[in-house]
Amino acid sequence: MKAIIVNAYGGPEVLQVKSIAKPVPKENEVLVKIYATAVTRASTMMRTGKPYFGRLFTGISKPKVKVPGTDLAGVVEAVGLKISKFKAGDKVMAATSLKCGTYAEYICLSQDEMIIHQPNNISAEEATGIIDGGSTALAFFTDQVSIKPRDKVLINGASGSIGTAAIQLAKEFGAEVTAVCSEKNKTLVKQLGANHVLDYTKKELERNTNEYHVIFDTVGKLTFRKVKRNLTKDGVFLTPVMKFPTLLHMLFINPFSKKKLKFAATGLRKQEQQLRDLIKISDMLSTNKLKTVIDRTYSLDQIQEAHRYVDAGHKKGNVIIKLN
Ligand SMILES: NC(=O)c1ccc[n+]([C@@H]2O[C@H](COP(=O)([O-])OP(=O)(O)OC[C@H]3O[C@@H](n4cnc5c(N)ncnc54)[C@H](OP(=O)(O)O)[C@@H]3O)[C@@H](O)[C@H]2O)c1
Repeated sequence: MKAIIVNAYGGPEVLQVKSIAKPVPKENEVLVKIYATAVTRASTMMRTGKPYFGRLFTGISKPKVKVPGTDLAGVVEAVGLKISKFKAGDKVMAATSLKCGTYAEYICLSQDEMIIHQPNNISAEEATGIIDGGSTALAFFTDQVSIKPRDKVLINGASGSIGTAAIQLAKEFGAEVTAVCSEKNKTLVKQLGANHVLDYTKKELERNTNEYHVIFDTVGKLTFRKVKRNLTKDGVFLTPVMKFPTLLHMLFINPFSKKKLKFAATGLRKQEQQLRDLIKISDMLSTNKLKTVIDRTYSLDQIQEAHRYVDAGHKKGNVIIKLN
């Protein structure tokens, strides 16, 4: 089968298209034919091995796993003898986390991993595209804060993968949402439900005097110091991007401050928590409460080009690799 292989950390050129053996399912595994996978910011970080502390999980001097990619949608082609939850022909979506392996035509997964049935009303591209941003945004909104109807929530990086999902989820929780993006993405974020839009290139947030219950800086471009005046007295600043000042703040300032800064590595939580979020995301997709924003679609042969595009930091929603 065709797969992407990496032997070193580095730029997109480390991603090489190769032919490797098609996996054979063990008795507790399903064999999935992958229809679509996503190029997420997590997969580009795993490719570069930066930030370096991530190498504690992915391999110190070179990647531990040969086939990258963490999200997929596809169809079950064969099942092992002990499989009860799936049968051949089932459409599935899955997140493989640090095990990776989705930049390939086939993968074997145990039925106890993060694999679920894919809703019928969406495509494989839509299913795989929402997994990273949708699960991350949901995890922040359920584990780190409790959003009440009419709470004011500001989402920075609203046009990205986490951002486009976060707008829809915050609206679902009943919040009044302010989305921060550039001019070219204003229509998109309004279509996703944002009540107000601010342009980050015009520094509109800096002139804004509104107070928010939650500020979710999905792209790690703001600092707590700059936006704390925009928080209510017990407001929370959420970030999925760990920086040294964030760590210092969480250790030494948070305990004495009513306004909190919170970070979480959502992909490192217990599998049962991640599976809970994936199921919730799938339920929302099936009832059209959540839509996947897809920017560009590439083939597996175009993997380097796809990574270059994601590295640039300006994708709208999600970038997909289509295999079928
Ligand atoms: N902690 C966790 O569990 C976790 C999980 C998943 C991801 N992450 C991290 O979260 C971050 C965001 O991931 P993502 O996939 O959502 O990002 P993304 O999709 O790559 O974000 C791209 C978007 O950000 C916008 N943007 C760029 N600069 C901006 C700025 N200064 N202000 C506001 N918006 C700006 C871009 O809009 P323009 O084109 O208009 O500039 C673009 O639409 C990444 O660093 C990723 O590694 C963390």
